[in-house]
Amino acid sequence: MSQTRDELKFAYWVPNVSGGLVISNIEQRTGWDIDYNRKLAQIAEANGFDYALSQIRFTAGYGADNQHESVSFSHALLAATTKLKVIAALLPGPWNPALAAKQIATISHLTNGRVAVNVVSGWFRGEFAAIGELWLDHDERYRRSEEFIRALRGIWTEDNFTFKGDFYRFNDYSMKPKPVDPQPEIFQGGSSRAARDMAARVSDWYFTNGNTPEEIRKQVDDIRAKAAANGHSVKIGVNAFAIARETEAEAHAVLDEIVAKANPEAVQGFADQVKNAGKASPEGEGNWAKSSLEDLVQYNDGFRSNLIGTPVQIAGRIIALKDAGADLILLGFLHFQEEVEFFGKNIIPLVRELEAKRDAQRIAAE
Ligand SMILES: Cc1cc2nc3c(=O)[nH]c(=O)nc-3n(C[C@H](O)[C@H](O)[C@H](O)COP(=O)(O)O)c2cc1C
Repeated sequence: MSQTRDELKFAYWVPNVSGGLVISNIEQRTGWDIDYNRKLAQIAEANGFDYALSQIRFTAGYGADNQHESVSFSHALLAATTKLKVIAALLPGPWNPALAAKQIATISHLTNGRVAVNVVSGWFRGEFAAIGELWLDHDERYRRSEEFIRALRGIWTEDNFTFKGDFYRFNDYSMKPKPVDPQPEIFQGGSSRAARDMAARVSDWYFTNGNTPEEIRKQVDDIRAKAAANGHSVKIGVNAFAIARETEAEAHAVLDEIVAKANPEAVQGFADQVKNAGKASPEGEGNWAKSSLEDLVQYNDGFRSNLIGTPVQIAGRIIALKDAGADLILLGFLHFQEEVEFFGKNIIPLVRELEAKRDAQRIAAE
């Protein structure tokens, strides 16, 4: 009988691209510059957040007119903090695994092993065209990402690493120094069959778009069964856009305003682009396959997780996502610094109370 608690982890989206996380002209007191972000990272680690997730975008589109690069920005945030883990986004194509493995190993040494990576597979065809990158079909992108992840792990953990892939090749390669322990964790995003299958084979963490506990549970059961068959285990992160206010009506009024002030052309443009993601995959599922136009006002369907209400309501819904199999909640906000602080001070403690109550009940029943 173990008393060990499996506490949910909390992460926030690093606003390293401009325009925040909703495609709306509503006022957003969120900056994309480094000073704003350093302070935000410090607020987050002082208020119970475990991870920060940086974004990689090479071009503007749908509101993100400026985009700081993810690895260098992540390092700056790690240098300004002491506990927070920062997940640097990597996009196979622009990055090759030899450079990525070396960059991340060095950052691991500079930051006491607090760096992680998010291997993204790409959804934005216009971006690839703009930077002259070959646009692969949906499932081919994941095949390349899987080789990328296998190469990262091989380089980080083996000497004389040899790998003969279709996209990458390594010959008797011994990179030194290896990253410090703990090894950098490998996250990935997606919902499509190819994304899930890759997670079930190689990733430490699988991030998915916002959704109801019922839909999250379906994905979790599917991925965990496949992972178990592969002798692999994978943890699950769920995206959510949180709007915590004193009353549920106030929180919903904010959501209504975000949607009312959405930029319809930009949302439609985004909707057209994401058809290149999982909707175009052979099985027609994927991150945005079932998103409504209103869902798409938040880049990763964050309204669907319904963390919109009072702190007590939100804490209860977070526990429902945990019950559905989530190990981590990834959060976006309208006004990051103030809302990350509010969330950490008022909602994470409620979640911890509910988790402790659950544990006590479980132990009593054992
Ligand atoms: C939490 C999360 C973070 C992501 N971050 C990025 C990113 O920074 N840059 C990017 O181009 N794509 C990003 N993606 C997109 C994914 O890598 C992937 O291309 C997309 O989810 C398509 O998935 P699908 O195959 O299920 O449709 C992210 C996805 C998720 C769920």
